[in-house]
Formats: sequence, structure tokens, C-alpha cells
Amino acid sequence: MKTDIVILAAGQGSRMKSSLPKVLHPIGGKPMLHHVIDSAKSFDDAVLNVVVGHGSEEIVDSLPEGCIAVNQADQLGTAHAVSQALPNFRDGSNVLILYGDVPLIKTATLKSLVKGVSENSICILTADLPNPTGYGRIVRSNDSVKEIVEHKDASDEQKKINEINTGIMCIPSKFLKSWLPKINNDNAQNEFYLTDIIAMASSDDVTINTLQPDELFEIEGVNDRKQLANLERKYQQHLANKLMFDGATIADPSRIDIRGSLKVGRDTFIDVNTVFVGDVVLGEGVSIGPNVFVKDAEVGSGTEIYASSVIESACVGKTCKIGPFARLRPGTHLNSGVKVGNFVEVKNSTFEENSKANHLSYIGDSSIGSSTNIGAGTITCNYDGANKLKTIIGDNVFIGSNSTLVAPLTIEDGGFIAAGSTVTQTVPKNNLAVGRGRQKNIVGWKRPMKKNK
Ligand code: UD1
Ligand code: CA
Repeated sequence: MKTDIVILAAGQGSRMKSSLPKVLHPIGGKPMLHHVIDSAKSFDDAVLNVVVGHGSEEIVDSLPEGCIAVNQADQLGTAHAVSQALPNFRDGSNVLILYGDVPLIKTATLKSLVKGVSENSICILTADLPNPTGYGRIVRSNDSVKEIVEHKDASDEQKKINEINTGIMCIPSKFLKSWLPKINNDNAQNEFYLTDIIAMASSDDVTINTLQPDELFEIEGVNDRKQLANLERKYQQHLANKLMFDGATIADPSRIDIRGSLKVGRDTFIDVNTVFVGDVVLGEGVSIGPNVFVKDAEVGSGTEIYASSVIESACVGKTCKIGPFARLRPGTHLNSGVKVGNFVEVKNSTFEENSKANHLSYIGDSSIGSSTNIGAGTITCNYDGANKLKTIIGDNVFIGSNSTLVAPLTIEDGGFIAAGSTVTQTVPKNNLAVGRGRQKNIVGWKRPMKKNK
């Protein structure tokens, strides 16, 4: 059976008090609407309609290829919103109705919902809430669903019903085509309620199946920033649970943030206040210290990242030691056993096995061989004010502390740079380079004295 999907995202979201459309506010670093789109994409043959109104330009610009934007100029209610997409629904399809501000609905739940639909049945996602205030209520008689009554239209008796309409439902397109045009706005909010189709289904003897989600966060909507923050925490807890299930130890699941995808090997340890952005892959037995930020990076097994390090678009090999306070910038590639210590910044550079830059350095646009030692305070001068220039350092090189390496520059294997050197020319294999003034000691020198007036 074909699936047509419609995601409602035309509302103003005025309670967000934001110039960004509500559905573009992120959860876990991804706009809410895109969470919904990604869950919906799992239906292979689906046609994805997104109903837009407020902030439509920004929303439409954000849509991935293949989504159809359907304009709803005035927001006259949920039935009116779905009606805008009516011409796009294919004959014989099932229409899945989703909400751009209910971001965490799971694919598995949607698949079950669609399975609850047949030639003569529809399926709605409901939930039992201890406090159902504000939601539409599921009215049943003898267990069968009869109608949905909106909170503002409900009698005192109906307000006591705890089973609520999540809004998410799946309905054969033929029914929508016949029921939607019949809906009026004769209700407390003068809106065209999608929920009115439930009473129509009931009177047409169409079976109304219901399903409940595995977890309540799946059906939680966001109307203001407090709810956004709340749902973010629930999402992060959910991601942390998955990591722990995969064999990671997390010092405090309430103090880790994943804004993208984090994959971990077994026995990885993640300390508190760590932020992972984009695609991050950690190998087995990796240890991430407190206050570490990692974005779009790969970290090899057994590597330890110490406190307050920042790693961005970098590839770190196995059994490396990074930080504390290290910064690996884009284009950093570290082979196994490399050490990058405190206050060392590395950009667009490669370190081969077991090389070290342990203290206070800037290494940019460089390629460094294996077992090379970069002394404290070494700076690669990679920029002449106009161009970025390369520094090539071989294997087993020793760069003395406080050296200035002026690119373009090559230091061949075994080269040895005396501390405090400014190096501007190639250092041949195994040579010692001394690039500094020679020390002079002056015998009998007298300190200056204060002059008497
Ligand atoms: C709706 C349901 C209610 C359910 C609740 C769950 C109806 C009539 N009521 O109520 O039973 O319990 O959701 O949260 O369906 N939208 C549009 N265009 C419109 C109107 C709404 O795109 O013209 C979008 C909104 O942006 C929002 C969603 O549809 O994302 C829901 O609309 P809203 O007005 O918030 O419905 P509720 O009153 O919450
Ligand atoms: Ca709502």
C-alpha cells in the first residue's frame, strides 16, 4: 500500500517568541521538522507533503529534496491544513498525518500505525495522560471510538477522559477525500477540526483502531521554549540510554549533549559536560574527559582525550593522548600513539605514529613524521600575510623548545633543532640546526647605577 505523508507546519508558534519559525528550532542539533521528515522518510514509496504558512520561506528553504511544500495562507484549522494537500494524495494511498512540532515520533510507531489501517479502517495514535488538559479527548462507547472532542468543546464529563488524541493518525486517502470537504468550523475555536473526521468514520461504520506509543516523549509537542528544553533533555536521556546499551559508561547521563550522531565502541567512558556535534565515532575503550567538545571527528580505540579539549573535523588514531586543553582544528590527522598536550593548537596537519607536541604550540599546515618530538613553545609560521605555506618535518626529528619554524620549510629525518632557533632553510638529514645568536659572557661587567644629581 502506498503511503502519503502530510506534516503540518503552518502554525505561528507565537509562544516561542522567536524570529525563527517554531518547527526549525532544534532538538539534538536538528530542526524539529527534520526529525519528523527523517522518521517519515523510512517509508520507501512515500510522498512527503509539508504544509507551510508562517515563516514558509525559511521552512521551504530547509526542506530536503523530494519534499513537497504545500502553502496554507491562512491557518483555519488542522482539517483546513490537511485539505491543502488533498490534491496530492494518490488514489488508494494511506495518508499519515504528522506534526512539525511533535518531533520525536519513532519510525517503528509510524509503521505500526500504518499497519492498523485497511480498506475499511483508520488508525489513530492516542495516549493516556494523567493531566490531559488542552488535548482532544477520545470518546468511546463500549470500547469503540465514537468521536474526538477538543478540550474547549468538551463537557465536564468528557474533560475527565484521560485518553487523548496525539494528533498523529493514518487514514485511507479515499476517506479524507470524502470527509474533509464536509467539515465545518462550528465550534468553540471557529476552526476546521481534523478531529471531526472521527465521528464521520464512526457513522460510516469505518473501524477506528487506536495505538499507543512505546514512550510518551514520542508524542510530546513543543509550544514554548520551556517545553523545548524539556523535550531536549528527554531526547538526550534517550540517546544516552542507547550509548550505555551499546557498552559505554556515561558519568552522568544528564550532563552529555549529542547534537548529531555519536557512535561508541565498548568500554568507552564519557565524563560530564561533554558535547558531541555532527558525526562522531569513538572506538573501543576511548576515554573522554570532562568539558570536552567534539565535532565531526573519529577517535581511535584506546585514545584518551583529557579535560577541556576541543576537537573539530579531525581524525585521531589509536592510543593517542590529547589535552588537557588541546585544540585539534579541521584537517588534523593523528596516527596512533600521538600525544598533543596542553595549549597545543593543531590545524590541517598530520602527525605520524608516536610523535609528540606536548606543550604550548601552534602546528599548522604541517606534516610530521613518526617519533618526532616538538618542543614546548614551537610555532610553525605558516602564513606570510597572503598565503598558507607548508612545513614538512621527517621522522625522529627533535625540535627544541621555543623554536620558530618559518614555512615553507623542510626538516629532514633525524634533524635536530637547537632550542630557541628561528629556522628558515631546509635542515638536511641528521643535521643540527642552530638558528640563534651565540651567547657572549662579558667578564667584569658592572650593573648600571643610579646617577647622583
Ligand atoms: C490538535 C488536535 C487535538 C490534539 C492536539 C495534540 C485538532 C482540531 N486538534 O489540537 O485533538 O490533542 O493537536 O497536540 O486537530 N496547524 C497548521 N495549520 C492550521 C492549524 C494548525 O499547520 O491551520 C498545525 C500547527 O502548526 C500545529 C498543529 O497543526 O503544529 C496542531 O495545531 P494546533 O492548533 O496546535 O492544534 P491543537 O489545538 O494543539
Ligand atoms: Ca498544539
